[in-house]
Amino acid sequence: MKIIQLTDTHLTAPGGTVFGLDPLARLDACIADINRNHADADLVVLSGDLANDGEPEAYLALRESLAALTPPHHLMLGNHDDRAHFCDVFPEAKVEDGFIQAAIDTADGRLILLDTLDSGRVEGRLCAERLRWLDRRLGEAQGRPVFVFMHHPPFHLRMPVLDGIGLAEPDLLHDVVAKHGNVRHIFAGHVHRLATGVWRGIPFSTLRGTNHQAALVFSAESPPASFEPPIYAIAFLDGEVVVHFHEFLERPTPSR
Ligand SMILES: [Fe+2]
Ligand SMILES: [Fe+2]
Repeated sequence: MKIIQLTDTHLTAPGGTVFGLDPLARLDACIADINRNHADADLVVLSGDLANDGEPEAYLALRESLAALTPPHHLMLGNHDDRAHFCDVFPEAKVEDGFIQAAIDTADGRLILLDTLDSGRVEGRLCAERLRWLDRRLGEAQGRPVFVFMHHPPFHLRMPVLDGIGLAEPDLLHDVVAKHGNVRHIFAGHVHRLATGVWRGIPFSTLRGTNHQAALVFSAESPPASFEPPIYAIAFLDGEVVVHFHEFLERPTPSR
């Protein structure tokens, strides 16, 4: 199974910019690169902060751009998203127990795509309802590998400001996940950083966004936007887990 993850597209109405960059042009470049190189992917997951400010025009632009994407895709929400505006533009989005969350079964295991949006707040949350849903979905996959996608990471990157706006009360998630013991990897967004590690025994990876990044700041200061090249991840999940990171923008070739 080959899964592509891209994240934090932060789209605006067409023509708008975020930190001086055109997020829609960058998404379109990302889609073109996936189509060229990974048309055979089983799924492309967009792990939240689809819009920069939940604007309906941004979701309409997203819908139009995704029409050009060859592999199937799945959309998730982040703190910059607006659940109602998103559902207006994507009425076919899978809603379970009132949230944009889904469990997708494949020959190589179950993908669980969480909705960590806590409307009006930057940090994420899995409320009792969502934790109950997750508990049920993990239980159904007893004995099978599960791969979790979530916008807000439950783990810390040792970057204090980012760590303060991740998933609130991560112990609640850990209690559910530890009960079942079948989660093999967590793919997160939100931090606009590329990092990997292990959270309480579970490997994880985070990604740069397709538009702007957060500068690498380990002090208590807020990381400014940075302009490291955007990437997407290519994950092979077939008994083993391998995650590649691909910088998809054309870079100038040095002249001789
Ligand atoms: Fe973001
Ligand atoms: Fe976010």
